[in-house]
Amino acid sequence: MPVFDNLVAAYAAEGYAVSTGLNPTVFHNLHSVPFTWLIRDGVEVADGLGISLPEIYLLECLAAVRPAESILVIGNSFGWSTLALALAQPQARVVGLDSAADRFSLEGLELTARIAGRLGLDRVSPVRGTSPVDIPATVEKHLGGQVDLAFVDGHHTSDQIVAEYRALRPLLTPDAMVLFHDVQYTGLQAGFDTIVEESGWQGSMLHATPSGIGFLTADPSPALARVIAAFATDPSALEVVRRKGERFGAEFGS
Ligand SMILES: C[S@@+](CC[C@H](N)C(=O)[O-])C[C@H]1O[C@@H](n2cnc3c(N)ncnc32)[C@H](O)[C@@H]1O
Repeated sequence: MPVFDNLVAAYAAEGYAVSTGLNPTVFHNLHSVPFTWLIRDGVEVADGLGISLPEIYLLECLAAVRPAESILVIGNSFGWSTLALALAQPQARVVGLDSAADRFSLEGLELTARIAGRLGLDRVSPVRGTSPVDIPATVEKHLGGQVDLAFVDGHHTSDQIVAEYRALRPLLTPDAMVLFHDVQYTGLQAGFDTIVEESGWQGSMLHATPSGIGFLTADPSPALARVIAAFATDPSALEVVRRKGERFGAEFGS
């Protein structure tokens, strides 16, 4: 099932208009416009923005090569990424965990449940709880004690994602994939590097995602390796773009 248009229609049916995938240069260089904004009655309703359009596409590409049975989203907010994963992975149980740290997160958990009902996704569980302390009990209760795919997008500090990885580690299946959202966007490279080193797994920076997703898996199949390589971007291509960006910055001061 295509994910994006289904999500937009489902949020619209609940009275939420969606803006996502915009080009910053067209919107006063506001760097957050590629991400997903939810608007109700003309007002922005989430503190934490939802994942971007290329990131939804990434989730669909991953589902095609590595179906998951048990998915944990840390940082549910309004359910955008939780529901995107549930649509992309039609066989999976999906938990969206949120501590209600953000102003609208409780409303977001309720909205997630309503949209899941509207889409017939009884496999989705929006759960109020705090990461990392509540990870083991939540995974035990809703996912049978193990995680095939974790999407980490809660509190954005390096210490936090390292603590979350350590809580997740005993629960991860051998083929598990862990996605750390916003590593580049919010400066979590040090935490991601620590996680890669501690895990001994393969870590990749997915440059073709607007938030700079850090991706972790133990042993990618050839098909998964192709997806990772495509989203990581060929290093020689990246270097050409980087050099041109440096020249552009030096000339125009950006
Ligand atoms: C950036 S938003 C998540 C966006 C969401 N993944 C999406 O794509 O729609 C971050 C969310 O994490 C939640 N959060 C912050 N710290 C948390 C923690 N320690 N445990 C669980 N949730 C947390 C916030 O309440 C907020 O709703």
